[in-house]
Amino acid sequence: MAVSAAAAPGARVSPPAGRRILVAGASRGLGLGLAKSFAAHGWNVVATERGASAGLRAAAEAAPGRIQIERLDINDTDLAQSLRRRLAHELFDVIFIVAGMRDNDPNRPVHEVPAREAAQVFISNAYSPMYFAEAFFDRLVPGGTLAIMTSVMASLTLISIPEQGTWEVYRASKTALNMLARCFHERHRGDGRTLLLFHPGWVKTDMGGINAPVDLATSVEGLYRTLLKWEGTRELAFLDYQGNILTW
Ligand SMILES: NC(=O)c1ccc[n+]([C@@H]2O[C@H](COP(=O)([O-])OP(=O)(O)OC[C@H]3O[C@@H](n4cnc5c(N)ncnc54)[C@H](OP(=O)(O)O)[C@@H]3O)[C@@H](O)[C@H]2O)c1
Repeated sequence: MAVSAAAAPGARVSPPAGRRILVAGASRGLGLGLAKSFAAHGWNVVATERGASAGLRAAAEAAPGRIQIERLDINDTDLAQSLRRRLAHELFDVIFIVAGMRDNDPNRPVHEVPAREAAQVFISNAYSPMYFAEAFFDRLVPGGTLAIMTSVMASLTLISIPEQGTWEVYRASKTALNMLARCFHERHRGDGRTLLLFHPGWVKTDMGGINAPVDLATSVEGLYRTLLKWEGTRELAFLDYQGNILTW
């Protein structure tokens, strides 16, 4: 993969006490891993689930007082707005939007995916994360960081068809996400907040599958360290979990 080594805009890797993160989509996989990791690093975490998640409940019990669970289907704008009202008096240093999905069989080319199914992927991966980003942007502290999970598959310049299939609909939905995030950044230019689009690696989760080469802990710790390095830079960047800058 053609990536360039990341500049290291900052060196801080451990946060001061009392910092807060909102993780949208934390019932399992990378979102759950991030919620647990930030809590373990001393952050206060608000973590959302779409339905009851035993994994998230266990994480909250294992880190008493550190993880607050809230309900969110990111495609339900009424739920997003009611969550916004519930958190009206809370500010976050970081908002990390992780929720995402793939189509049922990502090996199919786009014309073989029923339109309704493709639309669901585009809404879930592109429209809804950016709706949520706009709705919650003022819940970030000045100088805070909005992070959104995308994929290297979204890149128009690094395109390679991986051995696990073409993922056409999925990758196009993440390309749309990246473009919407860039539009968002333009609209909020000069605002002082940082916007990071993350590729987490190909990770062993329900989505990544058991053949993925990167384990969850490695990805999550890399995302954590990279995010802290870029905090406060006011930049827009497309990064991977190892801190490499990806091309759009
Ligand atoms: N794993 C990889 O190799 C990889 C690579 C590149 C990018 N990513 C991205 O990383 C993110 C997390 O992926 P993952 O591997 O952890 O996937 P996963 O194990 O399939 O988990 C997906 C997560 O997204 C949530 N979600 C999906 N649709 C939602 C909705 N409408 N509302 C709220 N939550 C929703 C799921 O909640 P439920 O439990 O309710 O379904 C679950 O928490 C995704 O954006 C994915 O595209 C993953």
